[in-house]
Amino acid sequence: MLDVERLQSDLPSHGLGEPLHFFQSIGSTNDHAMSLARDGAPHGTLVVAEEQTEGKGRFGRKWFTPPNSALAFSLLLRPEGIPIEAMGDLTALGALAVAEAIEGLGIEGQIKWPNDVMLIGQKVAGVLVEGSWIGDQLEHAILGIGINVRPESVPPKEEIDIPATCIDTAVGGRVDRHDLMLKVIEGAGKWLPQLGSPALINAWNQRLAYRDQAVIVKLSKHEIVGKLLGVGVGGRLQLMLNTGEIFEVAFGDVHLRPVDMKSKSAKLV
Ligand code: ATP
Ligand code: BTN
Repeated sequence: MLDVERLQSDLPSHGLGEPLHFFQSIGSTNDHAMSLARDGAPHGTLVVAEEQTEGKGRFGRKWFTPPNSALAFSLLLRPEGIPIEAMGDLTALGALAVAEAIEGLGIEGQIKWPNDVMLIGQKVAGVLVEGSWIGDQLEHAILGIGINVRPESVPPKEEIDIPATCIDTAVGGRVDRHDLMLKVIEGAGKWLPQLGSPALINAWNQRLAYRDQAVIVKLSKHEIVGKLLGVGVGGRLQLMLNTGEIFEVAFGDVHLRPVDMKSKSAKLV
């Protein structure tokens, strides 16, 4: 079980993690953080839960968070003057913070554009950013992070599209969830002032899954096959098509798969 007093004594980090709202079980930490934001909660507010009954991924997909085995938390961010295009960068910031924290455990995480963290081709964490806008300026954002830590946190195969794993399995031991969460929050706080910077895009590119490999990108009405070149300005994914033409994919309900992936959802064509 997470120790709330220990968390409270170790936070905030870089201005993130205070006040702390802790739940043994909740619908979704993102939903709760959003409602706190609407009630005026400050930048840095953290919502943590040991279980989510309505945990969600992008576009209403489900995120599995069984009790006491994962990390599920949401940070309320009120960054100044963030344009609508920065949503992709905020997602990258979350994924980068997770990937770097994992690297601190001696294992190499990769970021599957736009929002997943992978360990040797298996999904270990996901990031969901939800924003509230005034015109085209961000009023606040909720940065939600889910990490599979114990083997019990990995969803049954029938419930997922991409193979999943957990940190303990990768490390071959029992990782301290408290320390891992602190590292992720520290990383998020470190990257926040660098949103939209070339440094953040570079760090993202360095850990990008399937780089230089053939991938399929499934858009709403059609699919594109190309070589994944990297992430460019605004977090757009760059592909090289067979014709040699460069094709850019914007953030959205887009599914990315390596061409040779054997999972059921890889068969997009
Ligand atoms: P893509 O957007 O490329 O299709 P995706 O299928 O992973 O990726 P996301 O919205 O990023 O879609 O993630 C939600 C999906 O993740 C769910 O539909 C489910 O298949 C899977 N999933 C749910 N909970 C977990 C978990 N704890 N660990 C790993 N995968 C999960
Ligand atoms: C995804 O892969 O689509 C993103 C998954 C994000 C899951 C986290 S867990 C904490 C926060 N609360 C939620 O309901 N979702 C995010």
